[in-house]
Amino acid sequence: MLSQKMEEAINAQINAELYSAYLYLSMATWFEEQQLPGFSVWMRVQAKEEMTHALRFHNFVNDRGGRVKLTPIDGPPTDWDSPLAVFEATLAHEQKVTGLINDLMALAIEENDFASQGFLGWFVDEQVEEEAGATDLVGKMKLMQDAPGGLFMLDKDLAARIFTPPADMVV
Ligand code: FEO
Repeated sequence: MLSQKMEEAINAQINAELYSAYLYLSMATWFEEQQLPGFSVWMRVQAKEEMTHALRFHNFVNDRGGRVKLTPIDGPPTDWDSPLAVFEATLAHEQKVTGLINDLMALAIEENDFASQGFLGWFVDEQVEEEAGATDLVGKMKLMQDAPGGLFMLDKDLAARIFTPPADMVV
């Protein structure tokens, strides 16, 4: 059984994950407008992954006898100055999400909630990947600042990203 405090904190995290999906879909839309379809594909896959994060928390609340309460999602930004600015915003957002996951883990430890600690471990690992992926793209885009063809080559690479539904859960 989840404590009320943990249930409320996870419900807030479901909202944060749905906001992440909304943010990345907005970024996908912006890339489409900039005629960068590969970047848009990358962001669409990112948005789908965020939906699975929300559902992972959703399923966990249900499995622990808690109650999911969906709340309004804030509107994301809709405009950025450059592709680099989009990925800098992505990295900053993922760093913020890492902080939220760490706060949830700290609460689970404080409450001796071992099931939540085990569950949250998956997200701790996931955030390492999320930050590394965004850091990599920020670095690549900074490197190719003076090479006009670089953006289009990277666009081709990013178009190859595919969404793989997680094998360990129903989405
Ligand atoms: Fe759900 Fe990008 O972390």
